[in-house]
Amino acid sequence: MASPKTIEIVKATVPVLEEHGTAITTVFYQNMFAEHPELLDIFNETNQKLGRQQTALATTVLAAAKHLENLAVLLPEVTQISHKHRALQILPEHYPIVGKHLLGAIKEVLGEAANDDIIEAWTEAYDEIADVFIQLEDDMYEQAMWDGFIPFKVVEKSAAAQDIAAFTVAPVNDKSEDKQTIDLSQLNLTAGQYITVKTDPEDSDHLALRHYSLNSTDTDKGIQFAVRRDNRDGHYGLVSNHLHDEVEVGDTILLSAPAGDFALNKDLVKQNDVPLVLISAGVGVTPILAMLEEQVTSNPKRPIIWVYACQNEKHHAFKDQVDKLLESAEQVQKRIFYFEDNQILDDTYLATLPKPADIYVCGSMPFMESMIDGLVMLKHGTDNVHYEPFGPKMSLQAS
Ligand SMILES: Cc1cc2nc3c(=O)[nH]c(=O)nc-3n(C[C@H](O)[C@H](O)[C@H](O)COP(=O)(O)OP(=O)(O)OC[C@H]3O[C@@H](n4cnc5c(N)ncnc54)[C@H](O)[C@@H]3O)c2cc1C
Ligand code: HEM
Repeated sequence: MASPKTIEIVKATVPVLEEHGTAITTVFYQNMFAEHPELLDIFNETNQKLGRQQTALATTVLAAAKHLENLAVLLPEVTQISHKHRALQILPEHYPIVGKHLLGAIKEVLGEAANDDIIEAWTEAYDEIADVFIQLEDDMYEQAMWDGFIPFKVVEKSAAAQDIAAFTVAPVNDKSEDKQTIDLSQLNLTAGQYITVKTDPEDSDHLALRHYSLNSTDTDKGIQFAVRRDNRDGHYGLVSNHLHDEVEVGDTILLSAPAGDFALNKDLVKQNDVPLVLISAGVGVTPILAMLEEQVTSNPKRPIIWVYACQNEKHHAFKDQVDKLLESAEQVQKRIFYFEDNQILDDTYLATLPKPADIYVCGSMPFMESMIDGLVMLKHGTDNVHYEPFGPKMSLQAS
Protein backbone atom coordinates (compact mmCIF):
# COMPACT_ATOMS: atom_id res chain seq x y z
CA MET A 1 0.00 0.00 0.00
CA ALA A 2 1.12 3.61 -0.64
CA SER A 3 2.79 5.34 2.33
CA PRO A 4 0.71 7.75 4.50
CA LYS A 5 2.81 10.66 3.19
CA THR A 6 2.08 9.69 -0.44
CA ILE A 7 -1.63 9.33 0.31
CA GLU A 8 -1.68 12.76 1.96
CA ILE A 9 0.14 14.49 -0.92
CA VAL A 10 -1.84 12.72 -3.64
CA LYS A 11 -5.18 13.56 -1.99
CA ALA A 12 -4.10 17.19 -1.48
CA THR A 13 -3.37 17.51 -5.22
CA VAL A 14 -6.76 16.17 -6.36
CA PRO A 15 -8.37 19.67 -6.62
CA VAL A 16 -5.49 20.90 -8.82
CA LEU A 17 -5.75 17.79 -10.98
CA GLU A 18 -9.50 18.20 -11.21
CA GLU A 19 -8.86 21.67 -12.55
CA HIS A 20 -6.20 20.58 -15.04
CA GLY A 21 -7.12 16.88 -15.47
CA THR A 22 -8.17 17.03 -19.10
CA ALA A 23 -5.25 19.33 -20.06
CA ILE A 24 -2.82 16.90 -18.41
CA THR A 25 -4.17 13.85 -20.21
CA THR A 26 -4.26 15.73 -23.53
CA VAL A 27 -0.55 16.62 -23.21
CA PHE A 28 0.08 13.05 -22.04
CA TYR A 29 -1.42 11.52 -25.20
CA GLN A 30 0.40 13.97 -27.51
CA ASN A 31 3.78 13.18 -25.97
CA MET A 32 3.17 9.44 -25.69
CA PHE A 33 2.14 9.07 -29.34
CA ALA A 34 5.11 11.21 -30.45
CA GLU A 35 7.47 8.76 -28.71
CA HIS A 36 5.43 5.59 -29.36
CA PRO A 37 3.58 5.99 -32.68
CA GLU A 38 2.98 2.19 -32.68
CA LEU A 39 0.37 2.79 -29.95
CA LEU A 40 -1.79 4.57 -32.54
CA ASP A 41 -2.58 1.05 -33.80
CA ILE A 42 -4.23 0.29 -30.45
CA PHE A 43 -5.98 3.50 -29.39
CA ASN A 44 -9.26 4.57 -30.96
CA GLU A 45 -8.49 7.58 -33.16
CA THR A 46 -12.08 8.83 -33.00
CA ASN A 47 -12.21 8.73 -29.20
CA GLN A 48 -8.98 10.74 -29.25
CA LYS A 49 -10.35 13.32 -31.68
CA LEU A 50 -13.54 13.70 -29.68
CA GLY A 51 -11.63 13.89 -26.38
CA ARG A 52 -13.55 10.91 -24.97
CA GLN A 53 -10.53 8.87 -23.96
CA GLN A 54 -8.86 11.91 -22.36
CA THR A 55 -11.88 12.39 -20.11
CA ALA A 56 -12.09 8.68 -19.25
CA LEU A 57 -8.46 8.49 -18.18
CA ALA A 58 -8.62 11.77 -16.23
CA THR A 59 -11.74 10.61 -14.38
CA THR A 60 -10.17 7.29 -13.51
CA VAL A 61 -6.93 8.76 -12.24
CA LEU A 62 -8.82 11.24 -10.06
CA ALA A 63 -11.15 8.58 -8.69
CA ALA A 64 -8.13 6.44 -7.89
CA ALA A 65 -6.37 9.36 -6.18
CA LYS A 66 -9.38 9.86 -3.92
CA HIS A 67 -9.36 6.19 -2.93
CA LEU A 68 -5.64 5.48 -2.81
CA GLU A 69 -5.78 4.01 0.71
CA ASN A 70 -8.48 1.58 -0.42
CA LEU A 71 -8.40 1.00 -4.18
CA ALA A 72 -10.65 -2.04 -3.68
CA VAL A 73 -13.73 0.25 -3.72
CA LEU A 74 -13.00 0.90 -7.40
CA LEU A 75 -12.82 -2.78 -8.29
CA PRO A 76 -16.07 -3.00 -10.31
CA GLU A 77 -15.06 -0.04 -12.49
CA VAL A 78 -11.42 -1.15 -12.81
CA THR A 79 -12.62 -4.64 -13.76
CA GLN A 80 -14.68 -3.22 -16.61
CA ILE A 81 -11.72 -1.19 -17.90
CA SER A 82 -9.44 -4.20 -17.53
CA HIS A 83 -11.79 -6.31 -19.66
CA LYS A 84 -11.38 -3.72 -22.41
CA HIS A 85 -7.60 -3.59 -21.89
CA ARG A 86 -7.38 -7.39 -22.15
CA ALA A 87 -9.59 -7.41 -25.24
CA LEU A 88 -7.29 -4.80 -26.83
CA GLN A 89 -4.20 -6.78 -25.72
CA ILE A 90 -2.75 -4.13 -23.38
CA LEU A 91 0.28 -5.73 -21.71
CA PRO A 92 2.21 -5.09 -18.46
CA GLU A 93 5.08 -3.55 -20.47
CA HIS A 94 2.72 -0.80 -21.68
CA TYR A 95 2.16 0.52 -18.14
CA PRO A 96 5.58 2.13 -17.59
CA ILE A 97 5.15 3.97 -20.92
CA VAL A 98 1.83 5.42 -19.74
CA GLY A 99 3.35 6.16 -16.30
CA LYS A 100 6.33 8.02 -17.74
CA HIS A 101 4.19 10.23 -19.97
CA LEU A 102 1.47 10.81 -17.39
CA LEU A 103 4.02 12.01 -14.85
CA GLY A 104 5.77 14.05 -17.57
CA ALA A 105 2.46 15.71 -18.46
CA ILE A 106 1.69 16.54 -14.80
CA LYS A 107 5.08 18.30 -14.62
CA GLU A 108 4.57 20.09 -17.93
CA VAL A 109 1.08 21.40 -17.12
CA LEU A 110 1.55 22.23 -13.44
CA GLY A 111 5.05 23.72 -13.93
CA GLU A 112 6.70 24.79 -10.68
CA ALA A 113 3.63 23.82 -8.66
CA ALA A 114 4.60 20.17 -9.27
CA ASN A 115 7.54 19.98 -6.84
CA ASP A 116 9.69 16.89 -6.27
CA ASP A 117 7.52 15.65 -3.39
CA ILE A 118 4.40 15.78 -5.54
CA ILE A 119 6.04 13.99 -8.46
CA GLU A 120 7.48 11.34 -6.14
CA ALA A 121 4.09 10.78 -4.52
CA TRP A 122 2.31 10.51 -7.87
CA THR A 123 4.96 8.09 -9.17
CA GLU A 124 4.26 5.83 -6.19
CA ALA A 125 0.52 6.26 -6.62
CA TYR A 126 0.61 5.47 -10.34
CA ASP A 127 2.64 2.29 -9.72
CA GLU A 128 0.10 1.25 -7.11
CA ILE A 129 -2.84 1.85 -9.45
CA ALA A 130 -1.06 0.19 -12.39
CA ASP A 131 -0.41 -2.91 -10.26
CA VAL A 132 -4.14 -3.31 -9.61
CA PHE A 133 -4.82 -3.24 -13.37
CA ILE A 134 -1.89 -5.52 -14.24
CA GLN A 135 -2.92 -8.17 -11.71
CA LEU A 136 -6.56 -8.18 -12.81
CA GLU A 137 -5.53 -8.33 -16.47
CA ASP A 138 -3.10 -11.15 -15.74
CA ASP A 139 -6.04 -13.28 -14.50
CA MET A 140 -8.11 -12.26 -17.51
CA TYR A 141 -5.34 -13.32 -19.93
CA GLU A 142 -5.21 -16.68 -18.10
CA GLN A 143 -8.96 -17.17 -18.50
CA ALA A 144 -9.33 -15.85 -22.06
CA MET A 145 -10.74 -18.35 -24.56
CA TRP A 146 -7.76 -17.75 -26.85
CA ASP A 147 -4.58 -15.66 -27.01
CA GLY A 148 -4.21 -12.46 -29.01
CA PHE A 149 -6.03 -11.73 -32.26
CA ILE A 150 -6.65 -14.79 -34.44
CA PRO A 151 -8.24 -15.17 -37.90
CA PHE A 152 -11.93 -15.97 -38.36
CA LYS A 153 -13.72 -16.46 -41.68
CA VAL A 154 -17.05 -14.77 -42.33
CA VAL A 155 -19.51 -17.63 -42.97
CA GLU A 156 -22.72 -15.58 -43.00
CA LYS A 157 -23.56 -11.90 -43.47
CA SER A 158 -27.13 -10.64 -43.51
CA ALA A 159 -29.18 -7.54 -42.77
CA ALA A 160 -30.60 -7.46 -39.23
CA ALA A 161 -32.28 -4.12 -40.12
CA GLN A 162 -31.54 -1.13 -42.27
CA ASP A 163 -27.86 -0.21 -41.71
CA ILE A 164 -27.27 -3.14 -39.34
CA ALA A 165 -25.23 -6.07 -40.70
CA ALA A 166 -25.19 -9.37 -38.79
CA PHE A 167 -22.01 -11.44 -39.09
CA THR A 168 -21.30 -15.08 -38.24
CA VAL A 169 -17.60 -15.92 -38.16
CA ALA A 170 -15.88 -19.29 -37.74
CA PRO A 171 -12.25 -19.88 -36.74
CA VAL A 172 -9.85 -20.47 -39.64
CA ASN A 173 -7.95 -23.10 -37.58
CA ASP A 174 -4.87 -23.24 -39.80
CA LYS A 175 -3.40 -26.61 -38.78
CA SER A 176 -0.44 -26.37 -41.18
CA GLU A 177 1.36 -24.03 -38.81
CA ASP A 178 1.89 -24.15 -35.10
CA LYS A 179 -1.16 -21.97 -34.38
CA GLN A 180 -4.00 -22.11 -31.83
CA THR A 181 -7.11 -23.93 -32.94
CA ILE A 182 -10.59 -23.23 -31.62
CA ASP A 183 -13.34 -25.81 -31.20
CA LEU A 184 -16.59 -23.84 -31.53
CA SER A 185 -18.53 -26.46 -29.55
CA GLN A 186 -16.20 -25.94 -26.58
CA LEU A 187 -16.61 -22.15 -26.40
CA ASN A 188 -18.56 -21.15 -23.33
CA LEU A 189 -19.91 -17.73 -24.32
CA THR A 190 -21.91 -15.58 -21.91
CA ALA A 191 -24.74 -13.30 -23.03
CA GLY A 192 -23.57 -9.68 -22.71
CA GLN A 193 -19.95 -10.32 -23.72
CA TYR A 194 -18.28 -8.62 -26.68
CA ILE A 195 -15.55 -9.60 -29.12
CA THR A 196 -12.97 -7.17 -30.46
CA VAL A 197 -12.08 -6.90 -34.15
CA LYS A 198 -8.76 -5.67 -35.50
CA THR A 199 -9.07 -4.09 -38.93
CA ASP A 200 -6.87 -2.24 -41.39
CA PRO A 201 -9.31 0.18 -43.06
CA GLU A 202 -8.20 1.88 -46.29
CA ASP A 203 -9.28 5.25 -44.90
CA SER A 204 -6.82 5.17 -42.00
CA ASP A 205 -3.03 5.20 -41.58
CA HIS A 206 -3.42 2.96 -38.53
CA LEU A 207 -4.97 -0.35 -37.58
CA ALA A 208 -8.34 0.09 -35.88
CA LEU A 209 -9.80 -2.01 -33.07
CA ARG A 210 -13.49 -2.00 -32.13
CA HIS A 211 -15.70 -3.99 -29.76
CA TYR A 212 -18.95 -5.69 -30.88
CA SER A 213 -21.38 -7.44 -28.54
CA LEU A 214 -22.44 -11.01 -29.23
CA ASN A 215 -26.08 -11.10 -30.33
CA SER A 216 -26.27 -14.80 -29.47
CA THR A 217 -24.23 -17.29 -27.48
CA ASP A 218 -25.12 -20.08 -29.92
CA THR A 219 -21.92 -21.15 -31.69
CA ASP A 220 -23.31 -23.88 -33.99
CA LYS A 221 -22.20 -22.01 -37.11
CA GLY A 222 -19.81 -19.54 -35.50
CA ILE A 223 -19.58 -16.44 -33.35
CA GLN A 224 -22.37 -13.93 -34.01
CA PHE A 225 -22.26 -10.16 -33.78
CA ALA A 226 -23.96 -7.25 -35.53
CA VAL A 227 -22.66 -3.88 -36.66
CA ARG A 228 -24.51 -0.65 -37.25
CA ARG A 229 -23.17 1.67 -39.95
CA ASP A 230 -22.14 4.54 -37.67
CA ASN A 231 -22.50 7.77 -39.66
CA ARG A 232 -23.54 10.74 -37.58
CA ASP A 233 -23.24 14.51 -37.91
CA GLY A 234 -21.70 14.14 -41.37
CA HIS A 235 -18.88 11.91 -40.10
CA TYR A 236 -18.16 8.48 -41.43
CA GLY A 237 -17.54 5.68 -38.89
CA LEU A 238 -14.22 4.07 -39.79
CA VAL A 239 -14.62 0.40 -38.83
CA SER A 240 -18.39 -0.01 -39.14
CA ASN A 241 -18.33 1.23 -42.75
CA HIS A 242 -15.30 -0.95 -43.47
CA LEU A 243 -17.15 -4.03 -42.13
CA HIS A 244 -20.31 -3.15 -44.07
CA ASP A 245 -18.63 -2.35 -47.38
CA GLU A 246 -15.37 -4.33 -47.51
CA VAL A 247 -15.93 -7.51 -45.50
CA GLU A 248 -17.98 -10.24 -47.19
CA VAL A 249 -18.65 -13.97 -46.78
CA GLY A 250 -15.35 -15.83 -47.29
CA ASP A 251 -13.20 -12.92 -46.05
CA THR A 252 -11.04 -13.20 -42.96
CA ILE A 253 -11.06 -10.87 -39.95
CA LEU A 254 -9.04 -10.87 -36.73
CA LEU A 255 -10.81 -11.29 -33.39
CA SER A 256 -9.64 -11.28 -29.79
CA ALA A 257 -11.42 -13.48 -27.26
CA PRO A 258 -14.82 -12.53 -25.75
CA ALA A 259 -14.64 -10.08 -22.86
CA GLY A 260 -16.81 -8.06 -20.50
CA ASP A 261 -18.82 -8.51 -17.34
CA PHE A 262 -22.22 -7.25 -18.50
CA ALA A 263 -24.19 -10.42 -17.69
CA LEU A 264 -27.52 -11.62 -16.33
CA ASN A 265 -27.70 -12.01 -12.57
CA LYS A 266 -27.36 -15.82 -12.49
CA ASP A 267 -29.14 -16.11 -9.11
CA LEU A 268 -32.31 -14.62 -10.57
CA VAL A 269 -32.37 -16.47 -13.93
CA LYS A 270 -33.81 -19.63 -12.34
CA GLN A 271 -36.33 -17.77 -10.15
CA ASN A 272 -39.71 -16.43 -11.21
CA ASP A 273 -40.42 -13.79 -8.54
CA VAL A 274 -38.21 -10.94 -9.87
CA PRO A 275 -39.16 -10.05 -13.47
CA LEU A 276 -36.48 -9.52 -16.09
CA VAL A 277 -36.73 -6.14 -17.83
CA LEU A 278 -34.74 -5.83 -21.06
CA ILE A 279 -34.52 -2.29 -22.49
CA SER A 280 -32.62 -1.46 -25.67
CA ALA A 281 -32.51 0.96 -28.54
CA GLY A 282 -31.15 0.61 -32.07
CA VAL A 283 -28.14 -1.68 -32.34
CA GLY A 284 -28.00 -1.73 -28.52
CA VAL A 285 -30.31 -4.72 -28.89
CA THR A 286 -27.31 -7.04 -29.54
CA PRO A 287 -26.26 -8.01 -25.98
CA ILE A 288 -29.87 -7.70 -24.79
CA LEU A 289 -31.06 -10.20 -27.42
CA ALA A 290 -28.36 -12.66 -26.29
CA MET A 291 -29.66 -12.20 -22.72
CA LEU A 292 -33.24 -12.85 -23.80
CA GLU A 293 -32.10 -16.05 -25.49
CA GLU A 294 -30.16 -17.12 -22.38
CA GLN A 295 -33.15 -16.45 -20.11
CA VAL A 296 -35.70 -18.21 -22.32
CA THR A 297 -33.49 -21.26 -22.83
CA SER A 298 -32.68 -21.62 -19.12
CA ASN A 299 -36.07 -20.74 -17.63
CA PRO A 300 -39.00 -19.80 -19.91
CA LYS A 301 -41.34 -19.31 -16.90
CA ARG A 302 -39.73 -16.12 -15.57
CA PRO A 303 -41.77 -12.97 -16.40
CA ILE A 304 -40.02 -10.89 -19.09
CA ILE A 305 -40.65 -7.30 -20.15
CA TRP A 306 -39.14 -6.53 -23.55
CA VAL A 307 -38.76 -2.83 -24.38
CA TYR A 308 -37.21 -1.72 -27.67
CA ALA A 309 -36.90 1.69 -29.30
CA CYS A 310 -35.74 2.64 -32.79
CA GLN A 311 -36.44 5.08 -35.57
CA ASN A 312 -39.07 3.08 -37.45
CA GLU A 313 -39.97 -0.43 -38.59
CA LYS A 314 -37.13 -0.58 -41.15
CA HIS A 315 -34.62 0.02 -38.34
CA HIS A 316 -36.22 -2.57 -36.06
CA ALA A 317 -33.30 -4.98 -35.55
CA PHE A 318 -33.66 -8.77 -35.19
CA LYS A 319 -37.47 -8.39 -35.08
CA ASP A 320 -38.23 -11.98 -36.15
CA GLN A 321 -35.65 -13.59 -33.85
CA VAL A 322 -36.95 -11.61 -30.87
CA ASP A 323 -40.59 -12.45 -31.62
CA LYS A 324 -39.73 -16.15 -31.89
CA LEU A 325 -37.90 -16.13 -28.55
CA LEU A 326 -40.70 -14.17 -26.85
CA GLU A 327 -43.18 -16.79 -28.13
CA SER A 328 -41.30 -19.50 -26.24
CA ALA A 329 -41.41 -17.52 -22.98
CA GLU A 330 -44.51 -17.98 -20.83
CA GLN A 331 -45.11 -14.50 -19.36
CA VAL A 332 -44.16 -11.67 -21.69
CA GLN A 333 -44.93 -8.00 -22.03
CA LYS A 334 -43.59 -6.38 -25.18
CA ARG A 335 -43.43 -2.65 -25.84
CA ILE A 336 -41.95 -1.17 -29.04
CA PHE A 337 -41.34 2.56 -29.53
CA TYR A 338 -40.82 4.05 -33.03
CA PHE A 339 -39.37 7.56 -32.61
CA GLU A 340 -40.59 8.54 -36.08
CA ASP A 341 -44.18 7.97 -34.94
CA ASN A 342 -43.58 10.17 -31.86
CA GLN A 343 -43.59 7.12 -29.59
CA ILE A 344 -41.23 8.27 -26.88
CA LEU A 345 -39.69 5.97 -24.32
CA ASP A 346 -39.57 8.22 -21.27
CA ASP A 347 -40.09 8.29 -17.50
CA THR A 348 -43.87 7.98 -17.92
CA TYR A 349 -43.39 4.52 -19.38
CA LEU A 350 -40.55 3.63 -16.98
CA ALA A 351 -42.89 4.41 -14.07
CA THR A 352 -45.11 1.49 -15.20
CA LEU A 353 -42.33 -1.08 -14.67
CA PRO A 354 -42.68 -3.46 -11.71
CA LYS A 355 -40.50 -3.12 -8.63
CA PRO A 356 -38.31 -4.91 -7.79
CA ALA A 357 -37.12 -5.81 -11.27
CA ASP A 358 -33.82 -6.98 -12.69
CA ILE A 359 -33.15 -4.42 -15.44
CA TYR A 360 -30.64 -4.45 -18.33
CA VAL A 361 -30.18 -1.44 -20.62
CA CYS A 362 -28.19 -0.91 -23.82
CA GLY A 363 -28.27 1.80 -26.47
CA SER A 364 -26.60 5.07 -27.44
CA MET A 365 -24.99 7.15 -24.68
CA PRO A 366 -27.82 9.74 -24.51
CA PHE A 367 -30.46 6.97 -24.51
CA MET A 368 -28.75 5.12 -21.71
CA GLU A 369 -28.14 8.23 -19.62
CA SER A 370 -31.84 9.09 -19.82
CA MET A 371 -32.93 5.52 -18.98
CA ILE A 372 -30.55 5.24 -16.02
CA ASP A 373 -31.48 8.69 -14.68
CA GLY A 374 -35.18 7.79 -14.99
CA LEU A 375 -34.80 4.39 -13.31
CA VAL A 376 -32.71 5.80 -10.46
CA MET A 377 -35.21 8.65 -9.99
CA LEU A 378 -37.98 6.01 -9.81
CA LYS A 379 -35.97 4.35 -7.02
CA HIS A 380 -34.93 1.20 -8.81
CA GLY A 381 -31.79 0.46 -6.80
CA THR A 382 -28.54 0.89 -8.77
CA ASP A 383 -27.76 -2.78 -8.00
CA ASN A 384 -30.80 -3.74 -10.08
CA VAL A 385 -29.95 -1.57 -13.09
CA HIS A 386 -27.23 -2.97 -15.37
CA TYR A 387 -25.98 -1.31 -18.54
CA GLU A 388 -23.34 -1.45 -21.25
CA PRO A 389 -22.35 1.76 -23.04
CA PHE A 390 -21.13 1.31 -26.63
CA GLY A 391 -18.27 3.73 -25.94
CA PRO A 392 -16.03 4.68 -23.02
CA LYS A 393 -17.85 4.21 -19.74
CA MET A 394 -19.51 7.54 -18.85
CA SER A 395 -17.81 8.06 -15.51
CA LEU A 396 -16.75 6.14 -12.47
CA GLN A 397 -19.67 5.86 -10.07
CA ALA A 398 -17.68 5.78 -6.82
CA SER A 399 -17.02 9.19 -5.33
C1 LIG B 1 -18.54 -2.86 -25.14
C2 LIG B 1 -18.96 -2.36 -26.50
C3 LIG B 1 -19.83 -3.10 -27.28
C4 LIG B 1 -20.24 -2.64 -28.52
N1 LIG B 1 -21.10 -3.37 -29.26
C5 LIG B 1 -21.51 -2.94 -30.47
C6 LIG B 1 -22.43 -3.70 -31.26
O1 LIG B 1 -22.86 -4.78 -30.88
N2 LIG B 1 -22.78 -3.20 -32.48
C7 LIG B 1 -22.33 -2.00 -32.94
O2 LIG B 1 -22.68 -1.61 -34.06
N3 LIG B 1 -21.48 -1.25 -32.19
C8 LIG B 1 -21.05 -1.70 -31.00
N4 LIG B 1 -20.14 -0.96 -30.27
C9 LIG B 1 -19.60 0.28 -30.85
C10 LIG B 1 -18.41 -0.06 -31.76
O3 LIG B 1 -17.35 -0.58 -30.98
C11 LIG B 1 -17.87 1.14 -32.52
O4 LIG B 1 -17.64 2.18 -31.61
C12 LIG B 1 -18.82 1.61 -33.61
O5 LIG B 1 -18.97 0.57 -34.58
C13 LIG B 1 -18.28 2.87 -34.30
O6 LIG B 1 -17.01 2.58 -34.79
P1 LIG B 1 -16.54 3.20 -36.17
O7 LIG B 1 -15.09 2.90 -36.32
O8 LIG B 1 -17.44 2.84 -37.28
O9 LIG B 1 -16.77 4.74 -35.92
P2 LIG B 1 -15.69 5.78 -35.47
O10 LIG B 1 -14.82 6.16 -36.62
O11 LIG B 1 -15.03 5.30 -34.23
O12 LIG B 1 -16.66 6.99 -35.17
C14 LIG B 1 -17.63 6.88 -34.12
C15 LIG B 1 -18.69 7.94 -34.29
O13 LIG B 1 -18.10 9.22 -34.17
C16 LIG B 1 -18.43 10.00 -35.31
N5 LIG B 1 -17.25 10.80 -35.61
C17 LIG B 1 -16.10 10.38 -36.15
N6 LIG B 1 -15.22 11.39 -36.26
C18 LIG B 1 -15.85 12.47 -35.77
C19 LIG B 1 -15.48 13.82 -35.58
N7 LIG B 1 -14.28 14.26 -35.93
N8 LIG B 1 -16.40 14.65 -35.03
C20 LIG B 1 -17.63 14.23 -34.67
N9 LIG B 1 -18.03 12.95 -34.82
C21 LIG B 1 -17.15 12.11 -35.35
C22 LIG B 1 -18.73 8.99 -36.42
O14 LIG B 1 -19.66 9.51 -37.36
C23 LIG B 1 -19.35 7.90 -35.67
O15 LIG B 1 -20.71 8.18 -35.47
C24 LIG B 1 -19.73 -1.40 -29.02
C25 LIG B 1 -18.84 -0.66 -28.24
C26 LIG B 1 -18.45 -1.12 -27.00
C27 LIG B 1 -17.50 -0.30 -26.17
C1 HEM C 1 -3.33 2.89 -14.59
C2 HEM C 1 -3.30 3.14 -15.88
C3 HEM C 1 -4.52 3.21 -16.76
C4 HEM C 1 -5.74 3.74 -16.50
C5 HEM C 1 -6.23 4.41 -15.22
C6 HEM C 1 -6.53 3.56 -17.70
C7 HEM C 1 -7.85 3.94 -17.85
C8 HEM C 1 -8.63 3.70 -18.94
C9 HEM C 1 -10.03 4.03 -19.07
C10 HEM C 1 -10.87 4.72 -18.02
C11 HEM C 1 -10.44 3.61 -20.28
C12 HEM C 1 -11.83 3.76 -20.87
C13 HEM C 1 -12.56 2.46 -20.66
C14 HEM C 1 -13.92 2.41 -21.33
O1 HEM C 1 -13.96 2.36 -22.56
O2 HEM C 1 -14.91 2.38 -20.61
C15 HEM C 1 -9.30 3.00 -20.93
C16 HEM C 1 -9.33 2.46 -22.20
C17 HEM C 1 -8.20 2.19 -22.92
N1 HEM C 1 -6.93 2.09 -22.42
FE1 HEM C 1 -6.37 2.42 -20.52
N2 HEM C 1 -5.78 2.93 -18.64
C18 HEM C 1 -4.54 2.71 -18.11
C19 HEM C 1 -3.48 2.09 -18.74
C20 HEM C 1 -3.42 1.84 -20.10
C21 HEM C 1 -2.25 1.40 -20.80
C22 HEM C 1 -0.90 1.08 -20.15
C23 HEM C 1 -2.59 1.31 -22.13
C24 HEM C 1 -1.70 0.95 -23.29
C25 HEM C 1 -0.68 1.69 -23.66
C26 HEM C 1 -4.00 1.66 -22.23
C27 HEM C 1 -4.73 1.64 -23.39
C28 HEM C 1 -6.09 1.82 -23.46
C29 HEM C 1 -6.85 1.73 -24.69
C30 HEM C 1 -6.29 1.45 -26.08
C31 HEM C 1 -8.17 1.94 -24.35
C32 HEM C 1 -9.38 1.96 -25.28
C33 HEM C 1 -9.79 3.35 -25.42
C34 HEM C 1 -9.85 3.85 -26.78
O3 HEM C 1 -8.87 3.80 -27.53
O4 HEM C 1 -10.92 4.32 -27.02
N3 HEM C 1 -4.46 1.97 -20.98
N4 HEM C 1 -8.22 3.06 -20.09
